[in-house]
Amino acid sequence: MPFPPGPVLVAPSILSADFARMGEECAHILAAGGDLLHLDVMDGHFVPNLTMGPDLCRCLRKALPDAYLDVHLMVTDPAQYVDAFAKAGASNFTFHVEVLQPAAIAPLRDRIKTSGMDAGLAINPPTPVEKILPHVDGFDLLLVMSVNPGFSGQAFIPGVLDKTRRLRQTIGPTRPGGPRVQMDGGISPANAATVREAGCDVLVAASALFGKPAHDRAGVIAQLRG
Ligand code: DX5
Ligand code: ZN
Repeated sequence: MPFPPGPVLVAPSILSADFARMGEECAHILAAGGDLLHLDVMDGHFVPNLTMGPDLCRCLRKALPDAYLDVHLMVTDPAQYVDAFAKAGASNFTFHVEVLQPAAIAPLRDRIKTSGMDAGLAINPPTPVEKILPHVDGFDLLLVMSVNPGFSGQAFIPGVLDKTRRLRQTIGPTRPGGPRVQMDGGISPANAATVREAGCDVLVAASALFGKPAHDRAGVIAQLRG
């Protein structure tokens, strides 16, 4: 499934949703203007938290057949979960550059694409941008983390903006079929313009959206999109 069209996409991260009312929260945030759903998968090893897995993805796919499900794997061994998420109806599968040897990145990307999902490559704040620049070809999404992953509600790290500008210079402007640049962590209406100006066209937000009453969320989405 291709990414939804549009110059800037807003990707609500369901990590801050009410887990006891997940279906309702997801349907509402999409109706409020969210372009896709961002699922944060954590293994308690690559990051110090446990969150969700393929079963939740499968249930969301069943409840929301047309939703773009963007799965962000913060796990030490992403290859282990490709088949499970493909079967669970994930639209995109993003893994971290920090967990693989350089020679293993393209083969995993190809396996993800062959299994019918889009492929994303993520980079953590302390990792230099040079680590991903040689690997950007063939990816649908490049994810620049703006917090050290593990939890929602952390403060945005402004140092990642320079890295994003470098990345955007290398890959060129957003174009059909070209990779999108996603930023994730600490994004709110207060810094969204800066994030977009640095070259990001997919803005993830958890606490800035789900931390607000439901009736305020459409307004926040509009502000994030700019
Ligand atoms: C961070 C996750 C993020 C997180 C964002 O570990 O990858 O997607 O949920 O949360 P906020 O928007 O609250 O920083
Ligand atoms: Zn994420």
